[in-house]
Amino acid sequence: METSSAGGAPHRPDPAGGAPHRLDPAGGCPHADNARLLALGAVAPVELPGGVEGMAVLGHEALREFLQHPEVAKDVRHFAALQEGRIEPGWPLLTFATVRGMTTADGEDHRRLRSLVARVFTPRRVEALRPRVVELTDALLDDLAAAAEAGAGVADLRRHFALPLPMSVIGELLGVEAEFRDRLHKLSNAVTGTDIEPEAVLAANRELVGVLGEIAAAKTARPGDDLTSALIAARDEGGDRLGQEELIGTLVLLIVAGHETTLNLITNAVRALCGHRDQLALVRAGEASWSDVVEETLRWDAPVSYFPFRYPVRDLVVDGTVIPAGTPVLAGYSAAGRDRAAHGPDADRFDVTRPTRPDTVRHLSLGHGAHFCLGSPLARLEATIALERLFTRFPDLELAAEEADLPRLPSFVGNTVHVLPVRPAPNGRPERAPRAGDLSGRLERATRG
Ligand code: HEM
Repeated sequence: METSSAGGAPHRPDPAGGAPHRLDPAGGCPHADNARLLALGAVAPVELPGGVEGMAVLGHEALREFLQHPEVAKDVRHFAALQEGRIEPGWPLLTFATVRGMTTADGEDHRRLRSLVARVFTPRRVEALRPRVVELTDALLDDLAAAAEAGAGVADLRRHFALPLPMSVIGELLGVEAEFRDRLHKLSNAVTGTDIEPEAVLAANRELVGVLGEIAAAKTARPGDDLTSALIAARDEGGDRLGQEELIGTLVLLIVAGHETTLNLITNAVRALCGHRDQLALVRAGEASWSDVVEETLRWDAPVSYFPFRYPVRDLVVDGTVIPAGTPVLAGYSAAGRDRAAHGPDADRFDVTRPTRPDTVRHLSLGHGAHFCLGSPLARLEATIALERLFTRFPDLELAAEEADLPRLPSFVGNTVHVLPVRPAPNGRPERAPRAGDLSGRLERATRG
C-alpha cells in the first residue's frame, strides 16, 4: 500500500467499475457491499446523499496510513464542494463536517480542543468510574427484567439497557440532568442519521444547540463538579482557550460520541453472541474474556461504519487511486475490520479468541492517529461490564426475532439495528446467577453468625 502526492502518479480506473458506489442513506448491513468494493480496491468513489461526490478508504492498511497522513485535513475549510457553495444547508452530513470541535480541527487547534477534555478520559480516571458503571448496569438489568415481565417475556434491549447505560455515564460526567437525556438522544439521532429531510436536520440542529445552550447557561449560573462546568471555566478565562461556539460544539460531540457509539457496540456484541453461542461458551469456559468479545465485536461489526470526513489538501494517491484535493473522504471502519489482507481469509468469522492470538492485527474501529477515539477507555469499560453482567444474570438470554428481520438504524455512519427484542430468561427459566451484591450480602450474613 502506498500513499503519496499525485504528481503524475498512476490513476487506477474507477474501482467501482464506472459508477461510484451509492451509499444508501437508509443504512442497512454494510458487509456485503464492503466485500464487493474491497475486492475491487482499497479506495472507492462513493455517492453521498444529494449526489455529492466522495471517496471511502476501505482497506485496513490504506486506512491506517490515510488516517495519519500529514496532507490529510479535517478542517471544513478544505471541503471543496462546501466552499464552492455546492452543498445545501440541510444536507444530512453537514453537522459532522461543521461542528466546531476537535473532530473538525487540525494541528494546534486540534491539540487545544482535545486537551481541554482529555484528562477526564485517561485510563486511570475512567477506571475510577468502575463502581458507578457497575451500579448503573445492575439497576438497568432490573429495568430490563421488569420490561420483559411486562412484555410477555420480551424486551427491547437497546432501549432498556444498551442506550441508558452510556447515556447515563456521559450525562453524569457532563453534569446533564436525567430529564434532558431522552431529548438529547432523539436530537443526536437526528443529526447523525443519514436518511433525514433537510428541514428536519435544520430543526434538530437548532434544537440541539438550543438545549445545550440552556444547559451551559444553567451551569454558568451554578457551576458543579462536572466537565461542562470545567469547559465553561476555560471559556470564561478569556484568551483563546475555548470560544462559545466551540463550547457548544464540544458538548455536542461528547454527548453524541459518548453514547451512540457504545450503544451500537453493546447491541452488536449481544447480537453476535446470541448468533454464535459457541463463542459465548468459550467465554464461559474461560478461553476468552469479555474484553476479547468487545475487541472482536469492534473489528467484526464496527459500531461506526463510515466516518465523515477528511479532505486531502492536495491530490493524493492512495493504493493506486487518486483522491483529488478537497474531496470529502469517509473512513471505512466496517470494511477495514473485515479486510482479508489484514485479518486473514477468515476475516468474516466472529472469533473471540482472535484478539489474543499473536498474529492478530489490531482493528482500527476506534480510529488511529491524532484523532484516535478520546473515549476509548470509557467505551471499553462500559461495554465489558455491560456484557459480563448481562450474560451472568441472564445466561440463557436469546434474541426474540430473526436477526435478518431486525430493522436497521437509518444511517451509514452508525452500524447496528434500531431495536433489539430479547428474551432475557427464555421459557420462564429462573435467572441462574445471583448478583454480586446479593451474594456478598448473603456471605456477610452467613459469616456474621
Ligand atoms: C464503542 C464506542 C466507540 C467507538 C466505536 C468510537 C469510535 C470512534 C472513532 C472511529 C473515532 C475517530 C473518528 C475519525 O476521526 O475518523 C472516534 C473519535 C472520538 N471519540 Fe469515540 N468511539 C466510541 C466511544 C466514545 C466515547 C464513549 C466517547 C466519550 C467521550 C468518545 C469520544 C470521541 C471523541 C471526542 C472523538 C474525537 C477525537 C478527536 O477528534 O481527536 N467516543 N471515536
